Amino acid sequence: MNDRSNVSQAAQTGVSRNEVRDFYAKAAVASQESLCCPVKYDPGDLSHVPEEVLSISYGCGSPVSRASISPGETLVDLGSGGGIDCFIAAKVVGPEGRVIGVDMTDEMLEKARRHATQVADNLGYANVDFRQGFLEAIPVDDASVNAVTSNCVVNLSPAKQEVFREISRILKPGGRFVIADIISDREVPDAMRQNTELWGECVSGALTLERFLEYAKGAGFHGFQVSKDYLWKVVEGIKFYSYIITAYKPDPLEDPSCCKEYFAVYGGPFDRIEVAGQEFNVGVAREIDDETCHLLSQAPYSGLFSLIDPDNENAEPETDSCCG
Ligand SMILES: C[S@@+](CC[C@H](N)C(=O)[O-])C[C@H]1O[C@@H](n2cnc3c(N)ncnc32)[C@H](O)[C@@H]1O
Repeated sequence: MNDRSNVSQAAQTGVSRNEVRDFYAKAAVASQESLCCPVKYDPGDLSHVPEEVLSISYGCGSPVSRASISPGETLVDLGSGGGIDCFIAAKVVGPEGRVIGVDMTDEMLEKARRHATQVADNLGYANVDFRQGFLEAIPVDDASVNAVTSNCVVNLSPAKQEVFREISRILKPGGRFVIADIISDREVPDAMRQNTELWGECVSGALTLERFLEYAKGAGFHGFQVSKDYLWKVVEGIKFYSYIITAYKPDPLEDPSCCKEYFAVYGGPFDRIEVAGQEFNVGVAREIDDETCHLLSQAPYSGLFSLIDPDNENAEPETDSCCG
């Protein structure tokens, strides 16, 4: 694969994908202790996963366990490596669901594909497919998946804004990403960004949280949920933490004229919150337009608001209406 495919030279920073690929080709063949962040997987999630997959797992969290996956969903895991998160997801989405792992490194793909056969035998069905590709040009159709996960990989990309645009492209409207990644407490200086070893170890390619959110919002994501899990390393005085960040692709109202205006009442626990530039005080009804009504009826806001039809205060918007 061409290292420069689909990414303009100008959009790239830090270490090239070729160098990262060399790094992970070695890590696929022999377990690299220095790459192993402390991740606690639930043993119940791993009962069907072969031992060798665990020994070459280099994640920094467990995004699948935070992705609220339902049976039948389609999930894409970016930078799937030896396949650990794909195999965990395979059990949760069940035989009606699908999991697609995407990675650029031959050696990782070879291991993942080999273990997929064993996982399928253990589960009694085969629903995982590993594809070779880049995060910056994901080999998955537009608007075709419910959830995207990634475990300690976005930091390795030399073109992170492109990655968020690609995630948005492949998600269905209303779909979500759940990304476990390393986040720095301040910008990593350029000299450190050129250090291949530190970049490969998921350190010097890290974004600050502000930058991560800026890039994700730039690709249209909203409804962020951020969990700061643990301090991974301190290098040259910069702190690197493991985070899990969830966000949603908007599901726009197809026909804005199809529903009337509603009132929204925020139910707490905070005194007030702001959604889409509008402030809601706890317990106070606020008139909202169709677009806001539609937004508040979806994850992650649904359940936080009562949506009231002014013509019939006893009824919430009908579930089959465009608002509800
Ligand atoms: C830190 S490992 C994480 C692997 C896996 N997510 C896990 O938890 O074990 C990073 C993986 O991402 C892949 N990778 C890194 N940058 C990539 C890119 N730009 N496009 C595709 N794969 C990439 C590497 O080949 C490697 O398998």
